[in-house]
Amino acid sequence: MNSLALIGLQWGDEGKGKLVDWLSARFDLDIRYQGGPNAGHTVVVNGKKWVFHQMPAGILNPGINVAIAAGCILHPETLFKEWEELDADGVEYLSRTFIDPRVNIILPQHRLLDRLRDEARGKNKIGTTGRGIGPCYEDKHAYYGLRIGDLFSASLDQRLEIIVDHHNAIIEKVYGADGVEKKTVLEGLEVAAERIRPLVADVSNLAYEYIESGKKVLFEGAQGVLLDIDHGSYPFVTSSNPGAIFVPTGVGISPKLVARVLGLTKAYATRVGAGPFPTEASGELEARLQKLGQEFGAATGRRRRCGWLDLPLLRYAVRLNGVDGLAITKLDVLDSFDRLKVCTGYRQPDGTVKGEITPRDFDPGEPVYEEIEGWKKTTSEADNFEDLPSQAQDYIRWISTQVDIPVWMVSVGQDRTKTIALPDLPF
Ligand code: GDP
Ligand code: IMO
Ligand code: MG
Repeated sequence: MNSLALIGLQWGDEGKGKLVDWLSARFDLDIRYQGGPNAGHTVVVNGKKWVFHQMPAGILNPGINVAIAAGCILHPETLFKEWEELDADGVEYLSRTFIDPRVNIILPQHRLLDRLRDEARGKNKIGTTGRGIGPCYEDKHAYYGLRIGDLFSASLDQRLEIIVDHHNAIIEKVYGADGVEKKTVLEGLEVAAERIRPLVADVSNLAYEYIESGKKVLFEGAQGVLLDIDHGSYPFVTSSNPGAIFVPTGVGISPKLVARVLGLTKAYATRVGAGPFPTEASGELEARLQKLGQEFGAATGRRRRCGWLDLPLLRYAVRLNGVDGLAITKLDVLDSFDRLKVCTGYRQPDGTVKGEITPRDFDPGEPVYEEIEGWKKTTSEADNFEDLPSQAQDYIRWISTQVDIPVWMVSVGQDRTKTIALPDLPF
């Protein structure tokens, strides 16, 4: 079987970009299937840092093609900015990029509405990325969206007029702000249409063709399972379904074609934006994780909240998505800690301990922690699992046993080369 979904099992930023880039050397097609430029997928190659918001993160590998599937939303200007960076570095991408005509477009007013609305929530704000994600998906589901395919329609101007009038009424009457000018929006879309036209392809068909002809396809998840609109910590979620369970819908393929699922977790936990985070650390410990992990958002530069690995939530994310193998990232961030904490369960008022919770449980109980001795040695020089300090190996094996699935990969640094593949990795 030749397809793999790579997904984040926490609140995003697990290191998906890094591992997509590494795995892309072994795949023929890398498909983003949900989300938009709320994603920030970092890849570091030879000391150069790339952050991909719209382009699939595998693009730096010359042998791979990349695609943006129907379940995604697209902000053309963000895409073009990434193209400029690729151009500047001499990376060829135009002949290797495909965009589905069903992708919904993020308009300037979606971004404006996102910001106005989140601000208006005051202290209850979600802390969105402000990239127009909610308003764009909302229009898609209200049959109001503008899709890539619409850019080439003779009635684009008329369609846009209805949409802009609708948005401006909300912007002006509800929020008292200045609306957008249809003419300006239209001009932007006309430029986008010309640049995107050559890349438009039916990504659903493309995925079938690749898989049926024995080529390897990687499905690149964005965000993380705990931010899932249906199964995450609602309302502190994003507007898509980031897990492997959405790949069939987002791409337009049979569920039977998602052969395997690789789930990523940091060796600890972070969350950017508001919402419950039961294992959040505080004080000096939090500051230390934050500093050592350089925990600032790749999309917005915001400080990420930091805490300890939450096994009950990890078990949930694994079960929900049929995860076959784990990748544990940022192990090196824990190198200097004397002791580590990991949440193994949640104590209930009746004294029993739950080993699995869902992010819908706003009151999951009292976290129960296991304290683990740190390894106090550098992990980032290890090329193989056996090179890791023995306590770090024990930590990885222990997580694997706790979650009851094998570990396929361990990441010990930002650079592409700081990646350890375990023998169980099937690719
Ligand atoms: P993504 O959204 O899942 O792709 O993750 P981000 O790129 O938003 O955030 C992950 C951050 O951690 C980036 O700055 C990566 O360069 C960095 N990173 C990834 N893996 C490792 C690792 O194993 N060790 C360290 N120290 N940094 C890592
Ligand atoms: P990657 O792919 C981390 C969070 C936001 C906010 C909530 C809703 O880089 O892992 P949105 O703009 O989507 O409406 O914001 O979701 N969020 C992310 N957090 N990583 C991401 O993507 C995220 N994308 C959205 O911070 O809490
Ligand atoms: Mg990110």
